[in-house]
Amino acid sequence: MKKVVLAYSGGLDTSVCIPLLREHYGYDEVIAVIVDVGQPEADINEAVERGEKLSDLFKLIDAQDEFVRDYIFPLIKANGSYEGYVLGTAIARPLIAKKVVEVAKEENAEAVAHGCTGKGNDQLRFDAVFRATDLDVVAPVRELSLTREEEKKYASEHGIAFEAEKRWSIDENIWSRSIEGSELEDPAFFPPEEIFQWTVSQDAAPEAAEIVKIGFKHGIPVSVNGVRADGVSLIKRLNEVGGKHGVGRTDIIEDRVLGFKARENYEHPAATTLLEAHRDLERLVLTRNELRFKEFVDQTWSELVYQGLIMDPLYEALNAFVDKTQERVTGTVFMKLKKGVARVIGRESPNALYSMDVSFDAKQETRIVEGFSVYHGFQSRMFRKSLE
Ligand code: ARG
Repeated sequence: MKKVVLAYSGGLDTSVCIPLLREHYGYDEVIAVIVDVGQPEADINEAVERGEKLSDLFKLIDAQDEFVRDYIFPLIKANGSYEGYVLGTAIARPLIAKKVVEVAKEENAEAVAHGCTGKGNDQLRFDAVFRATDLDVVAPVRELSLTREEEKKYASEHGIAFEAEKRWSIDENIWSRSIEGSELEDPAFFPPEEIFQWTVSQDAAPEAAEIVKIGFKHGIPVSVNGVRADGVSLIKRLNEVGGKHGVGRTDIIEDRVLGFKARENYEHPAATTLLEAHRDLERLVLTRNELRFKEFVDQTWSELVYQGLIMDPLYEALNAFVDKTQERVTGTVFMKLKKGVARVIGRESPNALYSMDVSFDAKQETRIVEGFSVYHGFQSRMFRKSLE
């Protein structure tokens, strides 16, 4: 019995993979796995229905808590952002791949498969985790270079029915919604309101601002407005509140791993709010040296995640550094949400490296500073003189 486990989403690409894995690759049993990282319920239900019909064995794995605990929380601690993208799709792929590998082990399958095409980043992210095992890796849509039209034809020949074709390609999880494809491929095309589902437009957002108080403990958000909440509910809550104020839309040109530029639209109210708040709290409690160094660590961390290379030992090493710095990132940040903007308006922490004694209004021993000032810029001064 040749068995293969497929990372299933319910969409066209992964649906045609099921008969392809039987007919073209000769697998006797196709196990389809959908990993719930916070996709819309309706999509999951549709995927379950279709997947159960098509596959020999179907599994739905709820990984929302694990996603937040082991992937989103480290992302917040590392201020994860790649070219302004909050890495929602990127950070979910390794977890989905990991779950698929786990099922393959349980079921004694010899191969794992995904439905990615040969153009995007996701193929690389799945492959990186899949290939770290001794399982065979199959990517039917990429290997057979299928076009969308060929896939549709193959699907209808195999009784795989879809309602009217979706205009946009959407990837959604608890951290972000990515929207691409169709007219959006033209970077000059204005994103129509219909692509957004979590956020209202800036124009439609209420005039009245809302202030949200976010509590952090060791770099992790633990409460909203004083009410403690687990990660999943906290993020969902902030997606709602931020979305109502139009917070967290991005429209960017992104450099893909393969080197092409892509036009991407995202919405991610909770991510924007939490990342702004977290960065701000770090500025209050970390030293200047830590902040400067961490900026580089955060950027490297984000690039690894974007590339799907979290199996690299560097990822673990960076997390160890980040975790050490986060021991003191505890406190409260006040965010004002209004008309598409989430702005920090106050912060406090028992670990603040801030003293009112040296603040603007405080009386100082200015003679000490005079001495410092004599040598400040000393090298530049010598250089300037040497030009005379
Ligand atoms: N460009 C993003 C990434 O590489 C998102 C891709 C999302 N896919 C989609 N079908 N909208 O992570």
